[in-house]
Amino acid sequence: MMPEPVDERHALMETYAPAAVTFVSGSGTVLTDLEGRTYLDFLSGIAVTSLGHCHPRVTAALEAQSKRLLHVSNLFANELAEPLARLIDKLVGDGEPARGRVFLCNSGAEANECAIKLARRYFSRTVPPSQVARHVIVSAYGSFHGRTLATLHATGQADKHVGFAPLPAGFDHVAYGDIAALETALRGAEDGAEVAAVLIEAVQGEGGVVPAPKGYLRAVRELCDARGVLLILDEIQTGLARTGRWFGFQRAQIAPDIVTMAKALGNGFPIGACWARDEVSAAFRPGDHGTTFGGQPLACAAALATLAEMEEIRAPELAARAGEHLAGAVARISGVSEVRGEGLLLGAVLEPGIDAKAVVAAALEHGLVLNAPVAGVIRLAPPLTVSSLEIEAAVGILADVMEAFS
Ligand SMILES: Cc1ncc(COP(=O)(O)O)c(C=O)c1O
Repeated sequence: MMPEPVDERHALMETYAPAAVTFVSGSGTVLTDLEGRTYLDFLSGIAVTSLGHCHPRVTAALEAQSKRLLHVSNLFANELAEPLARLIDKLVGDGEPARGRVFLCNSGAEANECAIKLARRYFSRTVPPSQVARHVIVSAYGSFHGRTLATLHATGQADKHVGFAPLPAGFDHVAYGDIAALETALRGAEDGAEVAAVLIEAVQGEGGVVPAPKGYLRAVRELCDARGVLLILDEIQTGLARTGRWFGFQRAQIAPDIVTMAKALGNGFPIGACWARDEVSAAFRPGDHGTTFGGQPLACAAALATLAEMEEIRAPELAARAGEHLAGAVARISGVSEVRGEGLLLGAVLEPGIDAKAVVAAALEHGLVLNAPVAGVIRLAPPLTVSSLEIEAAVGILADVMEAFS
């Protein structure tokens, strides 16, 4: 094969399909491309820039911290990680301390990797070596938990596993929303190993914006309690006000053992976190887990500013209100058969035969950023600060675009 000429070659690996647009700047809900065209961003980097692009408070915090201290090794303390962990603990408790501890990292996959390791470490400390190993992680088909080898195996989408064998052992999957299937899975895995934890999303974001059926999360909690299995909520996409509550699980009024978050935590600055209730978090002792960058001052400054702003503007209420407006307006668009999701994590289910990817591409050409997580579904996840006017403008663009398809 002839090598491509140097100036036509992409130096970035092709892990994503070629992009149609190059964005160069952003402010609030608006993105600008290389040619100076503006777009309404109703995807937010997939539920990341929840306060809008380049939020002044986050930018100011990053600017100030970048002049004070960027990084120290976790062999030492910094002045921001502990306050951030306390704030996360309070939000997990919906305003009251949840009495847990936090491991800070850099991404969603790392937060889930931490959760999986913590669950295994917990049982390796509490189950005597003479008993059957307790290490299996049960997650749902259609779920998404990350791209590291362990979180990839937890991800219940077989097409994403292709070509990466052997995946780590100790993962099992059940149908999302099917409590009887979970009951069977919790009886023990095929190799005789016992289940350590259930890892589940309150709304399957990548799976097509599929909310947990009513009563499901509560039934999962009860089943985990009955079997002595830990419950891990992956709130990486749903967490931090997106669904109209600080965390998606709060709708079900349950208390998970472990909660993971990332995406919106730094409003675009990379940071993730794994929270666990005290007794579980105590399984990690010095040397069990670690990271070079996790919890470094610059990332913590971004997260502290993001969460402080979210608290001040009552972000969950904004998401709930704007979500109702957006869901109602999208449901009236011709060619949309259903709008599902919670708060500002919405999926517009298109009538059979309409190609969601083609609609998304046409919307982009008309200045609206969306995506299609699965065939037939368009995801809408604008900043939680989105205005009514922006919602009306975006719905107008989508309705115009959909006319050509329905
Ligand atoms: C629910 C969920 N878990 C985990 C991840 C992985 O996060 P990251 O891409 O930051 O590793 C994602 C990313 O889309 C997600 O939506």
